[in-house]
Amino acid sequence: MEISIHNKTEVFLSDLHLPCIHQEAYALAEKIIKDVNPHIIFLGGDIVDLASVSSWLHNPKEVSLRRELHNSRQWLYRLRDTFSRKTIYYLRGNHEDRIMHYIWKHAPELSDIDELSITKLLNLDQMKIQYLKQPIRIGKLWHFHGDETHLYNNAVNVALNVFRRLLNNVIMGHWHNCQAYYHRGVDRKTRGSWVNPCLCNSNDLAYDRFANW
Ligand SMILES: [Fe+2]
Ligand SMILES: [Fe+2]
Repeated sequence: MEISIHNKTEVFLSDLHLPCIHQEAYALAEKIIKDVNPHIIFLGGDIVDLASVSSWLHNPKEVSLRRELHNSRQWLYRLRDTFSRKTIYYLRGNHEDRIMHYIWKHAPELSDIDELSITKLLNLDQMKIQYLKQPIRIGKLWHFHGDETHLYNNAVNVALNVFRRLLNNVIMGHWHNCQAYYHRGVDRKTRGSWVNPCLCNSNDLAYDRFANW
């Protein structure tokens, strides 16, 4: 999918893992959005955590799907209210896919019930937030979540490796890291690859409290 735009600005946010948002980091991000006043707010995936439907072992007393969805909807409604005139895109991440994967695995008969899709469960249509199931190119910049690139979790220099794979301008989240790689080709055009840092607090992620980000 492609969207052609000219002279428009965008802020890319990813990996909030609601409800495990890093409040101070997000407060700063929100201030930046207000300062930049972009045309587009792009949510690059893993906005929700959905630990309750993870295939990883988790304590059901600690997480509840109802609470996770309620908390996520509240945050999204607040985003929409705060930035009522912005175009907001929401690209899927591997955590958004958890609902679909849970249904495929445990109740495949419910796979075609639209009301169980992440779009419906988060009320995205009502908020006028456009959900994207695939990477998208906006202007000259490809937007990925990051898991689509199938690099190993312990990959070193993700920005360089993804650039080598895609040979195009790309921004992505997923890796919870801040990296950039630039390449000037024989055509004298400079292209780049950017890995966006996360906005979640790893201390709150029950399954990954010793993460190195
Ligand atoms: Fe991810
Ligand atoms: Fe993430």
